[in-house]
Amino acid sequence: MNGTLMWQFVKWHKLIGDRLADWFLRKPLPEPSARDKELEKQLREELTRPSSVTTLPIWVAFREQVRRDFDAYDPRTFLRWSIVRHSMCLTNSGAVVPEYFALRNSPQWPRYQPAVEDPGVGDPVPFIYYPRSNGNLLHHCYHLMRFEELTGTDLSQMEVIVEFGGGYGNMCALLHRLGFKGRYFIYDLPEFTALQRYYLASLGLPLHTDGSTAPGVTLLSDLDQLRAALGTVPDQARRGFIATWSLSESPFELRERFLPLVESFDALLLAFQGGFYGVDNSEYFEQFRARTQDRIQWTKQHISQSPGNYYLFGRRA
Ligand SMILES: C[S@@+](CC[C@H](N)C(=O)[O-])C[C@H]1O[C@@H](n2cnc3c(N)ncnc32)[C@H](O)[C@@H]1O
Repeated sequence: MNGTLMWQFVKWHKLIGDRLADWFLRKPLPEPSARDKELEKQLREELTRPSSVTTLPIWVAFREQVRRDFDAYDPRTFLRWSIVRHSMCLTNSGAVVPEYFALRNSPQWPRYQPAVEDPGVGDPVPFIYYPRSNGNLLHHCYHLMRFEELTGTDLSQMEVIVEFGGGYGNMCALLHRLGFKGRYFIYDLPEFTALQRYYLASLGLPLHTDGSTAPGVTLLSDLDQLRAALGTVPDQARRGFIATWSLSESPFELRERFLPLVESFDALLLAFQGGFYGVDNSEYFEQFRARTQDRIQWTKQHISQSPGNYYLFGRRA
């Protein structure tokens, strides 16, 4: 299928699939529990805190939209807020169809299957061919499978993971269900850090708010804090870095300050769109690859079900 046709399929499949899922598969929400109310209160506190982090204009708009959506809708349905759906949810996108079948045909499916079971937090849109899961879970699991096939590295077995731009925390939750037991750091914009806290706490993952060095998840929006936290990680710990469609959506200046923190890691899973609102990512990541190839063994792959998008997988050489 050529690129234009593929994008038509991706778009129409999402539109029709989401409509069908809403008609036939949506479950009513129960009454909010005391825990739901407590998490909502915490989310409100975080979302009303002022913040001065700078980012690309499109993400400035998205950050404002999160705050507006929170005021307008029930947080227990946050996976249906327009901002979350538009910026970080594939739901029934046609791109997920080949990914789902590739997962099912993988010899690793027995391991992936329980991990892609949707825990149901956030009122997710079920994936129509496999309603026990959702498009994002399958999509993220597919990244992990491709990474493992190409690099021989299972990211769930790392001792430390740093994720740049973790969306609402789906990859972090998935890796924990796949057996990750170490320290997981997500660096993101404050509004999305707040959503991650809401999502991961709802799932019962251990979240650290202090400088704990115990296994668990640390959510940050401050680079100095991340640098300090990584300073407490033993040198011999196996470390993985994940940035899917996130570093590629951030300013160059931030990328340059962030990447030195993870360039010595054992495994690096990046995915990006060739161009993003006038930003030439292909050129940027080509240069990054060239300047680190003495230390990192890179493989770049076009993602055929998302034309114009690429994986960049790295392993310490
Ligand atoms: C398109 S979403 C991708 C989310 C997730 N990685 C995925 O693949 O589904 C982009 C992510 O990058 C984060 N992001 C965008 N600009 C950022 C910045 N300047 N600093 C930190 N995170 C940023 C967003 O908040 C969001 O979590």
